[in-house]
Amino acid sequence: MYYIGVDLGTSAVKLLLMEGNGKIANVVSKEYPLYFPHPGWSEQKPEDWYAQTMEGMKELLEGFAKSQVAGISFGGQMHGLVILDSQDAVIRPAILWNDGRTSVENDYLNNVIGKETLSAYTANISFTGFTASKLLWVKKNEPENFARIEKIMLPKDYLAYRLTGVHCTDVSDASGMLLFDVKNRCWSKPMCEICSVKESQLAKIYESYETVGCVLPAIAKELGIPETVKVAAGAGDNAAAAVGTGTVGEGMCNISLGTSGTIFISSDHFGVDKHNALHAFAHADGHYHLMGCMLSAASCNKWWMDDIIGTQEYAKEQAAIGKLGENHVFFLPYLMGERSPHNDPDARGTFIGMTMDTTRADMTQAVLEGVAFALRDSFEVAKSLGIRIERTKICGGGAKSPLWKKIIANVMNIKVDVIESEEGPGYGGAMLAAVACGEYASVEEAAAKLVKVVDTVEPDPALALKYEARYQQFKQIYPTVKGLFPLLK
Ligand code: XUL
Repeated sequence: MYYIGVDLGTSAVKLLLMEGNGKIANVVSKEYPLYFPHPGWSEQKPEDWYAQTMEGMKELLEGFAKSQVAGISFGGQMHGLVILDSQDAVIRPAILWNDGRTSVENDYLNNVIGKETLSAYTANISFTGFTASKLLWVKKNEPENFARIEKIMLPKDYLAYRLTGVHCTDVSDASGMLLFDVKNRCWSKPMCEICSVKESQLAKIYESYETVGCVLPAIAKELGIPETVKVAAGAGDNAAAAVGTGTVGEGMCNISLGTSGTIFISSDHFGVDKHNALHAFAHADGHYHLMGCMLSAASCNKWWMDDIIGTQEYAKEQAAIGKLGENHVFFLPYLMGERSPHNDPDARGTFIGMTMDTTRADMTQAVLEGVAFALRDSFEVAKSLGIRIERTKICGGGAKSPLWKKIIANVMNIKVDVIESEEGPGYGGAMLAAVACGEYASVEEAAAKLVKVVDTVEPDPALALKYEARYQQFKQIYPTVKGLFPLLK
């Protein structure tokens, strides 16, 4: 049988066709526009997601036995606000996970409602990208739109709704709305009240590996697949990537180097970091996880390469990088503000330390290192909680670069396990579909049978020591320049 994993990303939807034994039969990617209507705002059209997913699925299945497709599931960009009216029309473009417009609402939630209260209700505090502050923003700034809301959903749940007609979500993605009681895996009534949301506007909650329904007859006909194809709830892209890299069960770690950068630590037990610097979310394996999320990771490198120095030759640029651990140039990767651990939508990208002999390669290196240092900031929070991490998996577009993996292994001073496919969320989505269809008894079983480590990047003690000194310098830059950022708007 075949299982389709849909990775609904920020730059493109990536579709993956997996055989029951885990072999990847085909992968297709379809792009769509990303809109920045104001600096720090970020939007997409849900209709574009759907159109490109349908086109992508048709391409994905070309030449394969469509009658053998058994299940579909998702890993989706998290936190995005999608609102539909009573006719199921999309009311306004989706406000995405990396949108920073909600400073006022975010401050209201954290300071007036209070972080302790939020954490007691949801296990998390508010961040500008989370869905709750966006609802308050729409209520205040677009009251006519707010009044029309019939259904509230997350990005991948819009796809599930179009495919099945079921208004559903899963526990991992719901965790990032700040409307969800993570510990008890249900909507938080007091949070709904605070955000003027009726529970009837919210989706039915499923575990990520549960079936929400079958594809609608019209969809089956359009794609040429059986009407019995099951759709599983799926997961937020980070939880799906964790499944796809076998980061399930107690104390496993995954780093994702996508548009965002995340460090994801799975746990059998519910737990909250007392400063809420890390997100405490439900995991797609039925348990929990902690996560730090930086808003610009591989996107910093893409911006530097494509938009600034104007080249597509990433490997060639990286080949010019000479000595690691000795760069005097530093880069703060806060091109969209920053989430973990600073929670500062005003933060901005910053180069510092250049001299007349600084080269283009030094700057490229600083970008790669800046992302690694910023990920280490979240890693330090995890360490301060007594969590011991000696190795991590890695996935996402940035994980294709051997140099970046080496920098990460040495900046963090941990082993980086490389798995057969770096298609984290798409592979995880397909695995969740396979579990929903009974091909595997549990997410853990699927991960144990399907995920294979093919290489390990070991830190080099001398280089890790040099990077330790550089990290101590990096750590001082943000607190020093932080006060300037609000003045630069
Ligand atoms: C996680 C987050 C991002 C998006 C990227 O909290 O906001 O990783 O899910 O798609």
